[in-house]
Amino acid sequence: MRSGALRLALPALALVLIVSMAARAQTPNKQSFEVIEHGRYMATAADCTACHTVKGGQPFAGGGALETPFGVLLAPNITPDLQTGIGGWTDDAFVNAVQNGIGHGGIYLYPAMPYTYYSKMTRADVIAIRAYLDTVQPVHNRVVANQLPFPFNQRETMVGWNALYFRPGDFKPDPSQSEEWNRGAYLVEGAEHCGLCHTPKNAMGGDEGGRAMQGSALQNWYAPDLTGNRHAGLGDWTVDDIVLYLKTGRNRYDIASGPMAEAVTNSTSHLTDADLRAMAVYLKSLPPGGRAAPQPISDQDPAMQHGRAIYDNQCAACHGGGGQGIVGLFPRLSAAPLVQQEQAASLIRVVLEGSRAVATAGAPTGPAMPSFAWQLPDADIADVITYIRNAWGNAAPAVSANDVGKMRQALHREAQQAP
Ligand code: HEC
Ligand code: HEC
Ligand code: HEC
Repeated sequence: MRSGALRLALPALALVLIVSMAARAQTPNKQSFEVIEHGRYMATAADCTACHTVKGGQPFAGGGALETPFGVLLAPNITPDLQTGIGGWTDDAFVNAVQNGIGHGGIYLYPAMPYTYYSKMTRADVIAIRAYLDTVQPVHNRVVANQLPFPFNQRETMVGWNALYFRPGDFKPDPSQSEEWNRGAYLVEGAEHCGLCHTPKNAMGGDEGGRAMQGSALQNWYAPDLTGNRHAGLGDWTVDDIVLYLKTGRNRYDIASGPMAEAVTNSTSHLTDADLRAMAVYLKSLPPGGRAAPQPISDQDPAMQHGRAIYDNQCAACHGGGGQGIVGLFPRLSAAPLVQQEQAASLIRVVLEGSRAVATAGAPTGPAMPSFAWQLPDADIADVITYIRNAWGNAAPAVSANDVGKMRQALHREAQQAP
């Protein structure tokens, strides 16, 4: 009789255990150290700080300005402050904001908050991020996010936007691919939101269909093609090249500048080698997209001859007579996809304002690219960039003095808006 009851009780107990374990997988224990640590890691992968922390400001206290196709938005305070942060929010409200773009009081968020990507994260990962954010210093800082002009300040317009461009739902693993590939895809398409910058956008700021990761203009930079395209993409990069770039911001092809230098410093340089490798394996599987290489501009062209003279005079000392650079110090300009993008915004910008290469734990000293804004007029900068885009086997559209002039003005406006 006793043993009969036991025989019944044991499976029942196992069932209760399984059910409670499953429930725990859904809602992780937010007080657990492992969950908080995991949340910190996922918040780093998702780079929440990029927008929600201003330079030199309190972590996650908000206020950072973001340019969108509709106007300027400020990122809100996501510290656990009760009045001005997310301290009083339920977990469901938090998940709804991060994964569905529904903010405080049911308002529609603008996709400058990358919920369209975060939607692919698991709920457990998002709850872990909340658990971590609960442990940061609460800061009293009221941020009015919406600074947009009419009609874009009408959040209801986002209902239509979401219907057109937002496909909510968790990441669906592809069973025909390896576990490593699926981990990489989960990170790249979800938390890391690489496509926010690298996928071309239409006039409404939605991802252009069928052109994932083919390169995109953003805030006076150009985020290059990351597909298997051999001319402008990562077709010739190895998995190790990609891992090294994401870990240290530099490799034998390139040194990261601007928004990518920040993404490396804040996010990718802190990921485990296994996660970086998984991301690289996934990126290497992207089929070549974008355009085929154009015909290079002839070296008899006057712009090329003028550009070459300026290059030999001003640039060759660091980048090498053949554009070969010095690995880790001066990026190569020959056979470098970055130099051969469809749009030259990043190149014009770096030559105009100079750039200090990213410094990470893996590569602590950052050499600098001098600013040529005061040394060279627009036409000279245009010709030297046309030259580096078409010398040594490179091929890409020419740059005009007008392109350089426009960038000068845009950088001037940017400097005035900076806090
Ligand atoms: C690329 C910039 C960017 C990144 C990265 C980003 N956010 Fe945001 N976030 C914003 C902006 C901008 C808003 C305000 C949008 C609006 O008002 O429509 C926002 C809104 C929010 C809100 C709603 C707050 C409120 O008061 O309604 C939450 C919560 C939030 N973000 C959390 C996060 C978390 C957590 C992460 C990392 C997983 C993150 N964000 C990453 C830009 C960003
Ligand atoms: C905030 C925008 C932004 C985000 C997010 C971002 N990138 Fe970038 N990325 C850029 C820009 C801009 C450049 C060009 C940088 C330069 O000029 O040095 C770049 C450059 C790169 C390059 C160098 C390519 C080449 O041809 O030299 C790689 C590789 C890269 N990004 C991978 C990634 C991956 C992987 C992710 C996600 C983990 C990511 N990026 C997220 C903006 C971004
Ligand atoms: C004193 C050395 C030096 C000189 C002179 C110099 N550069 Fe640079 N350049 C650098 C360094 C260092 C970087 C990397 C900085 C970074 O990525 O933030 C760089 C980056 C670049 C980049 C971005 C490439 C990439 O992979 O990120 C371009 C394009 C470039 N330089 C073009 C030029 C041109 C054109 C000239 C001449 C008008 C020139 N440079 C002169 C040191 C130099």
